[in-house]
Amino acid sequence: MNQHPVSPAPPTIGEELPATNPSAEMLAILARRRSTPIALIGAPGPDRNAITEILRIAARVPDHRKLEPWRFIIIDCESKGDALGAELDKVRAEELGADYSDEEKLKTRTLFKRAPVAIGVVSSPDHAHKTPVWEQELSAGAACQNLLLGANAMGWAGAWLTDWCSFSKGADRVFGLGPGERIAGFIHLGTAAHRPPERQRPDLSSLISEWTPFGA
Ligand SMILES: Cc1cc2nc3c(=O)[nH]c(=O)nc-3n(C[C@H](O)[C@H](O)[C@H](O)COP(=O)(O)O)c2cc1C
Repeated sequence: MNQHPVSPAPPTIGEELPATNPSAEMLAILARRRSTPIALIGAPGPDRNAITEILRIAARVPDHRKLEPWRFIIIDCESKGDALGAELDKVRAEELGADYSDEEKLKTRTLFKRAPVAIGVVSSPDHAHKTPVWEQELSAGAACQNLLLGANAMGWAGAWLTDWCSFSKGADRVFGLGPGERIAGFIHLGTAAHRPPERQRPDLSSLISEWTPFGA
């Protein structure tokens, strides 16, 4: 049986918060965290109260000049996945024309039937603001990762996927995106059928260098 802990009430503005959170439990979670492959995510999914809690945590991210350059679209895939698949099917048929195979059509129709809930994270930067759009987009990425971690801590399995529908003007219309907005990802949430196996991890030695002054 999965455990679904409840998150504590958020702090009030100005309340003193711990600058650090020494926690062996959190370290163990971060050191072993893993997305759940979408094929392993099934019912049940989080209900509306749990989703609200997850999104509160997702929105608690660094955000230069407090622009809140992201928003969330809740997709109840169990009740609306078919309707969404039908809309995306029209878009995909138009985009691919004669190349739209039956296999591709089935994939499109079931794209939002793979997990009980998906949260669309929309990057919604203020393009006219002095805070660079890049920084605002990075904040949207941080919201995606916080969403995943928060959902995991509440006992929900998740996967951050984009798929073709994050890069399609037609799909943008289906999801109701405004000008200048982009999908940062869909976080599919539910219950893991079994524990995901560890995947290959980076060889950090090839990714880390130390800055040295010129001529040193
Ligand atoms: C922005 C973004 C988009 C992704 N989109 C997809 C996708 O469309 N399909 C897919 O199979 N994996 C996608 N992934 C990869 C998975 O979310 C996940 O990172 C990977 O399967 C396992 O990583 P982890 O266990 O370290 O979290 C995406 C990852 C990121 C960061």
